[in-house]
Amino acid sequence: MRDITDLIVNLRQVQQQASEGGGERFRQRHRERGKIFVRDRIELLLDAGTAFLELSPLAAHGLYGGEVPGAGIVTGIGMVQGRACMIIANDATVKGGSFFAETVRKHSRAQEIAEQHRLPCLYLVDCGGAFLPEQDRVFPDQDHFGGAFWRQCQMSAKGIPQISVVFGGCTAGGAYIPALSDQVIMVRGSGRIHLGGPPIVKAAINEIVDGETLGGADMHTTVSGVSDHVAADEETALQKLREIVAHLGEEQPQASPPRDPRPPLPEFGNPQDHAPVDLKRPVDMRALVRSMVDGSEMSEFKPDYGATLITVFAHIHGYPVGILANDGALFSESSVKGAHFIELCDQRQIPLLFLQNITGFMVGTEAERGGIAKHSAKLVYAVSNARVPKYTVIVGGSYGAGNYGMCGRGFRPRFLFSWPNARIATMSPDVAATVVTDLRRASLKSKASEEDIAELDARTRKQFEEQSDPYYATARLWDDGIIEPNQTRDVLGLCMSLAAGEARDTGPRPVYRM
Ligand code: COA
Repeated sequence: MRDITDLIVNLRQVQQQASEGGGERFRQRHRERGKIFVRDRIELLLDAGTAFLELSPLAAHGLYGGEVPGAGIVTGIGMVQGRACMIIANDATVKGGSFFAETVRKHSRAQEIAEQHRLPCLYLVDCGGAFLPEQDRVFPDQDHFGGAFWRQCQMSAKGIPQISVVFGGCTAGGAYIPALSDQVIMVRGSGRIHLGGPPIVKAAINEIVDGETLGGADMHTTVSGVSDHVAADEETALQKLREIVAHLGEEQPQASPPRDPRPPLPEFGNPQDHAPVDLKRPVDMRALVRSMVDGSEMSEFKPDYGATLITVFAHIHGYPVGILANDGALFSESSVKGAHFIELCDQRQIPLLFLQNITGFMVGTEAERGGIAKHSAKLVYAVSNARVPKYTVIVGGSYGAGNYGMCGRGFRPRFLFSWPNARIATMSPDVAATVVTDLRRASLKSKASEEDIAELDARTRKQFEEQSDPYYATARLWDDGIIEPNQTRDVLGLCMSLAAGEARDTGPRPVYRM
């Protein structure tokens, strides 16, 4: 039986390991070059003593033989000169900061969040462009590297500042990040920008040139004009960046919470105490909600109807929120109740929080005759079209279409986090093994023996077991990170504060009683 404390200890170990980047040999070389590590650069940039919400720190975990921790990039939200900014920073100790598929996804996801919340993007660039052996997964498609540059141009045009500091050799895609920025600072001696580095120049036009002459900070600041400022060292460059942020002009008004934040009451314990670790055993979801909301106060909507979906109005860090939390499979009644509740929140401009612990929508003759397909669709429709910010935390299982009805990744929640006990897949390993072996038995092509079926059963179980692991999910950027249950309230408070002051679409939106 898994234990939540063990899962959290393991999470911390894995995160610590990932934060060490490319390993001691590369860290040593980085140090010898007089360069500062990526996380220390971020610390120097942020306002002293303020929090940094790091996103997807375990991207690419377990991929590429473990050689690309964090996907070689650190992204997250932090305060610079009192203003919330998105930081996007390459880790040069990981394959020269070059881009793998997960690096592109992480970089683009950070940009997407920045664009939604109008956060200035501060790029700390130290990047060798596309990781060439993976170029087919990084370069050509819409959401590959080009898409990240498209986003950069779009954001700049919308008045969302894009500013780069160049710390190392930036080639090709790595060069375009600063080249497409509104303002650029380069560090003398180590910062370089060139569309093609010396080896490419030699191969293309047979010119032999050193990196500094080709794309050094002084040349770009005094000759080409690609860079606007040269800094003597990394600390000075980061101070210059802080100075630039201080002069960015008016920011979107940050609405302070309408109520004073109040901590939850101790008698409801910590969220960790209520984590659904064994998904076959029900937990007290109301206690879980109370352990996260202000004053542990909640006003429950329709408590006597559709009981497998709990719908409550509450506050988190002073911000109003409508929470949908699973307490069993979704039936027709719980689905339409969820749709009704979402409409109410949308009408009242109350952001939505989905706490997923869902095996799926109910199946079977009775459910189908009762119209589960159309009633579940109402929930999915309401989730898709709600105008208010949506947030999702996978606190337990996230299976099947239940993932859709509860605002999974496809439904664009502003942020989606998982707990270390989470599970995400179309179905559980047990059910998948039954379905897949039944399909094999019924297959026209099948001459499968019982041994073959037993082998397929075992293989399917193993596959679903591995692929529903939260580390498998977070490595592939299906979430914005695994967080500890007891961090959830503070993380959500920060996320909600980013959206609190934004202009909302207040056009008419009726509530259809379901
Ligand atoms: N593609 C593939 N591998 C890359 C890479 C890239 N774009 N950039 C760096 N790497 C790899 C190196 O091969 C090396 O791998 P190894 O440790 O397995 O041998 C590792 O990353 C570290 O690179 P290294 O050159 O030792 O680091 P550095 O700090 O001295 O230099 C760069 C960093 C980015 C300046 C340098 O690696 C470079 O110029 N890379 C190529 C840039 C390029 O031509 N990009 C074109 C992309 S379209």
